[in-house]
Amino acid sequence: MALSAVRVKRAAMMLTLALPALVFFSSERSNATGPATDPGEDIFEARCVNCHGHDGGSRTTLGKDLNAPDLRSDKVQKLSNAELAEVIARGKGEMPAFRKKLRRDQIQQVVLHIRGLAR
Ligand code: HEC
Repeated sequence: MALSAVRVKRAAMMLTLALPALVFFSSERSNATGPATDPGEDIFEARCVNCHGHDGGSRTTLGKDLNAPDLRSDKVQKLSNAELAEVIARGKGEMPAFRKKLRRDQIQQVVLHIRGLAR
């Protein structure tokens, strides 16, 4: 009697420990680009730092040559998420289009990352 109560408790504890871990790992697998915290960061590092720099503002020589703006500036930050996504997807001026390289949800993640750079 006492023993089975302990067993039930132990099983319940295992479940509460195992469930979040399961949820964590399955959500990790669904975005292969990186940890769930800021997947946009990995995409940004892979695709955007060549011109915009790691913090979005310290532009590379190439970025300066092409006149890439500081992504933390008001000029860029006052654009809506939809407008940012549009520029990334279609490109603008010397900036290449990414709609063939990034999925729509990846573009949204990069947009969120750009918001984070301004903070
Ligand atoms: C080859 C260099 C290059 C790369 C790589 C690049 N950009 Fe740009 N980006 C530019 C240039 C140049 C502009 C300025 C375009 C203009 O206003 O004519 C720009 C502008 C922008 C703007 C501002 C648009 C506006 O309307 O003011 C955003 C936002 C932006 N880039 C995000 C990104 C993101 C996100 C990536 C990666 C997915 C990226 N860029 C990759 C060169 C680049």
